Amino acid sequence: MNNYQNSLPSPEQRVIDLLSRMSIEEKIGQMMQISYNQVTRDEAEDWVTKRHAGSFLHALGDDAKHLQELSKSTRLGIPIIFGIDAIHGHALHNGATVFPSQLSISCSWNEKLIEEAGRVTAREAAADGLHWTFSPVLCVGRDLRWGRINETFGEDPYLIGVLASAIIKGYQGKSLSDSDSILACAKHYLAYGESIGGRDSYDTEVSLRKIRETFLPPFKMAVDAGCATIMAGYESIDGTPVSASKKLLRDILKDELGFNGFVVTDWNNTGSLVYNQKVAGDMDCAAKKVIEAGNDMIMNTNKFYDSAVKLVKEGIIPEAMIDEAVKRVLFIKFSMGLFDEKRQAETAKMAHVFNCAEHEDVNLRITRESIVLLENKKNALPLGNGVRRIAVIGPNADDIKAQFGDWTFFSHPDPKPDTVPLAPTYTMLAGIKELSEKIGIEVLYHQGCDIMDTKVQDIKGALDVANKADVVIAVIGDCLAQNGEGKDRADLNLSGAQQRLLEELKNSGKPLIVILVNGKPLSVPWVANNADAVLETFNSGALGGKAAAEIIFGEINPSGKLSISFPYHTGQLPVYYNQLPGWHGGKYMDMPEEPVYSFGYGLSYTSFKYSNLTLSQTSCSESDIIHVCVDLTNTGEIDGAETVQIYVNDIVSSVVTPIKQLKGFKKILIKKGETKTVDMPLRISDLYIVTPDEEYVVEPGEFTIMVGSSSMDKDLLKASLTVK
Ligand code: BGC
Repeated sequence: MNNYQNSLPSPEQRVIDLLSRMSIEEKIGQMMQISYNQVTRDEAEDWVTKRHAGSFLHALGDDAKHLQELSKSTRLGIPIIFGIDAIHGHALHNGATVFPSQLSISCSWNEKLIEEAGRVTAREAAADGLHWTFSPVLCVGRDLRWGRINETFGEDPYLIGVLASAIIKGYQGKSLSDSDSILACAKHYLAYGESIGGRDSYDTEVSLRKIRETFLPPFKMAVDAGCATIMAGYESIDGTPVSASKKLLRDILKDELGFNGFVVTDWNNTGSLVYNQKVAGDMDCAAKKVIEAGNDMIMNTNKFYDSAVKLVKEGIIPEAMIDEAVKRVLFIKFSMGLFDEKRQAETAKMAHVFNCAEHEDVNLRITRESIVLLENKKNALPLGNGVRRIAVIGPNADDIKAQFGDWTFFSHPDPKPDTVPLAPTYTMLAGIKELSEKIGIEVLYHQGCDIMDTKVQDIKGALDVANKADVVIAVIGDCLAQNGEGKDRADLNLSGAQQRLLEELKNSGKPLIVILVNGKPLSVPWVANNADAVLETFNSGALGGKAAAEIIFGEINPSGKLSISFPYHTGQLPVYYNQLPGWHGGKYMDMPEEPVYSFGYGLSYTSFKYSNLTLSQTSCSESDIIHVCVDLTNTGEIDGAETVQIYVNDIVSSVVTPIKQLKGFKKILIKKGETKTVDMPLRISDLYIVTPDEEYVVEPGEFTIMVGSSSMDKDLLKASLTVK
């Protein structure tokens, strides 16, 4: 048996052996990722048999199985890696578990559950013959106009890094060679969410210092967590497309951070250098740029193949440079055991694994913890005994597409708008109905209006329904057309006739509970002021309605905290909490300085009291890890979970640093009346600043350590720390 086919030598040894047998064409083939939906079946087969494509994306089940069989029959029999956008569950496949969006689950602040969700997705995708998900998104969600905010873990680099590391662990499991592990892909490297004006895939004007301070840290955490692949974003940074940036890919990601997996471009980034960004006159030039910059796999730029073969044959690109990329790809293939076992779709297994009881249970637990109670005036929630009839009103009350959000079989790869979800789903209406029936409450429903189209409305009809009920639950927000790639919004107000609908419902005099079903924070100060209670559910997936209903009726005590801040007005952006201090306060004369809701905020049905903040040392050096301790008492009537947050401010620093930065958190369950001492480590080396020369330095001096229930000053206890 050829050495590389023998499973005993290490992956490194097998890579060396295989590489020595490969032609230039076979090597370049390994760098190709073909989009299954962009080619005919014959072309797909040719890509395997004639050009040795290393990877396909969006080929599922039997299609993937067929291509993999073909790959085994080629000269060297190098298996294909199949990738998919399993972004919140393996949701492009109807019937699989659909989790809440990444933004939604980030509000759980529960790493453990997020890891479990990653595991579920891995098992389901692996059963479908897939090896790789293009997830998680590590973009920092700061410009809410951007259409892909729903895909982020919110606005804070530290929280993003922690939650990303958790989901990566979940996807990749204990070992990549386990048949139910899949590769994670941290994306979109780098600062992709920061493009000018929140306009998707555009230029980003950030300095390298700022990149190191804000945008690189989550990627560093992902690399440290062992993330196997990283995707280079669509955007340019200060005029250089990321896929053409040697500095960002080779120097920083591979050499400095020590990333040893492989880099994949985003969808046709190589072509974009020619057609959109125009930094290359033709494909040869684009291919040269992306190879030199350090991309290892080329997503959906099929013309790259001929150009790259030519560049190597003409000696313009050294073969050693191709070898470096191919080694990385092959190393992962060997590490996954793709040469040694068949990891293919097993329809029988799929039916057994998809949305099985265990997976549904993980989904329900994470959905419950992801919902954030934003308002609860006079304890309007949970609904009390006096309620006999509820009016559920609004365009998102019974719309599973809006509730699912982006990256499900409704939106990708081809929209199939009328497909009915196979796995059980609960819209808000369905969830409220099911629980109401159990306790003998009647539920009335009216759509009221459309999300976008102002002509589709029957506000009078909705009011008639509201007038018959004891309480109104209005379910509003945004829709699929307002979220996703290229769906950036200039206006974050409620669209269509939703605002009018709400105002009329308020005028009915009935208690008004608002459930927000939306991809991202909207500008809803009226709702904050006028609704008796507000639940933010974002895109809560298949079980959103069930979990929201449990909260509404008090079966579950809400514990979600915002991972992202809410503006008063689109023009007030950005409103993220970790802003720099400024001379005139960094605010507008016609807007409040604070957001409507801040990062870290979220209510519970119980109340918590923080006291006795102590530091294990008040004077320390850079190498220390100190303990931040605080007493937390559940002062209310029921058990509840609270997320204790640590923020730090560097009082005087040689560059301007944020007014506060999250450096730790812990979510804990605490019984009514109980007091717990919460002990959290704080690594002093994490208190670094990035100097104008791009060096990381912990500067001696005084720091304020703040601990509490949100990023707002009023919610934080403070202590002083001196670093020598
Ligand atoms: C997106 C990526 C995604 C890729 C493959 C691109 O348009 O930017 O996030 O993984 O398509 O579907």
